[in-house]
Amino acid sequence: MKVLSVVGARPQFVKLAPIARAADAAGVEHVIVHTGQHYDPMLSDVFFDDLRIPAPDVHLGVGSGSHGVQTGAMLGALDAVLSEHDPDWVLVYGDTNSTLAAAVSAVKLHYPVAHLEAGLRSFNRRMPEEHNRVLTDHAADLCLAPTRVALEHLAAEGLSERSVVVGDVMTDVLLGVRDAVTDEFPQLLLDAGLREHGYYLATIHRAENTDDPARLRSIVESLSGLDRPVLIVAHPRLVAKAAEHGIDLSTGTLVPHRPLRYPELVSVALRSAGVVTDSGGLQKEAFLLGVPCTTVRSETEWVETVELGWNVLAETHEAIARAVQRPMPAPTDAQPYGDGRAAERVIEVLLEGARA
Ligand code: UD1
Repeated sequence: MKVLSVVGARPQFVKLAPIARAADAAGVEHVIVHTGQHYDPMLSDVFFDDLRIPAPDVHLGVGSGSHGVQTGAMLGALDAVLSEHDPDWVLVYGDTNSTLAAAVSAVKLHYPVAHLEAGLRSFNRRMPEEHNRVLTDHAADLCLAPTRVALEHLAAEGLSERSVVVGDVMTDVLLGVRDAVTDEFPQLLLDAGLREHGYYLATIHRAENTDDPARLRSIVESLSGLDRPVLIVAHPRLVAKAAEHGIDLSTGTLVPHRPLRYPELVSVALRSAGVVTDSGGLQKEAFLLGVPCTTVRSETEWVETVELGWNVLAETHEAIARAVQRPMPAPTDAQPYGDGRAAERVIEVLLEGARA
């Protein structure tokens, strides 16, 4: 069996790592195509190095652009790549523009498409990721759901017959990396003078939080007045927008930092007193590490983190400050994101599908 994975943005490299390992262990031929959506070394290359992912077989080098321009450029480039490699499955990941482009190219060329992390919904039709995931699920031949809730969403849209719960592959990676970084206190915390549980970790990158100057200013003001230092790990868009709007990312309690390598991020999240983020992945990583999270959005796809009390949605200046400084939630042993062996299950399901 030959599986062709298409990835392009940071969270997809994390999901690719356990899939590449499981494919290798099962003797499955695996072709990796990188669209080039993320091209900064700290958003791309370091993930391949740190998570020991084989170098991409094909790099499309598409780069940034408006949603249509970026997605269209990938789509245009992918047709020839898929035809050349002629895979048994095209595997697409998550909800980025790279995901949608690969799903559309594959379905039009009649290659079977499997969607990893299928069935997540925010029900916010203004989110680019919501368009990408809904359209990809409906184009896919196989929807690989991470959770029961995701499977219910797929069923509600008439997709149950092609859907299966496999668990969450990010859990696979996170548990391994957590065990590897537990002992060593990270140098970057020492350099910044931050103590274990003496700081918060923040990441803000979504367009709805960064592009409106008033909104970004209100978030930054809220974070800069918290009761502990805030290590703010800045995506290039946040840096660019803050500069454009004249907003200082080093004011008050804020300690700005370049994007982190994945093991650094896990280590720094694990040692923080709490995470504040608008990232999808980091909300769940905080939960799996037993760290309280505040999500700067009006909804989340990872509803289990909220239901179990480990994640609070907060959008205004006051709500963010209140949520971050709340008491520690009650411990839970619930495992809504699987047992850390999702990638093996994905490869098994793909093998079954290829034989059918
Ligand atoms: C993308 C995904 C988002 C995911 C995020 C992870 C979509 C619609 N969004 O958002 O779901 O959570 O990746 O980080 O696919 N830029 C750089 N260097 C890079 C890449 C981007 O400077 O290597 C800057 C550019 O100014 C670019 C902007 O960041 O225009 C946005 O990048 P883009 O890939 O469009 O979306 P992300 O916000 O990264």
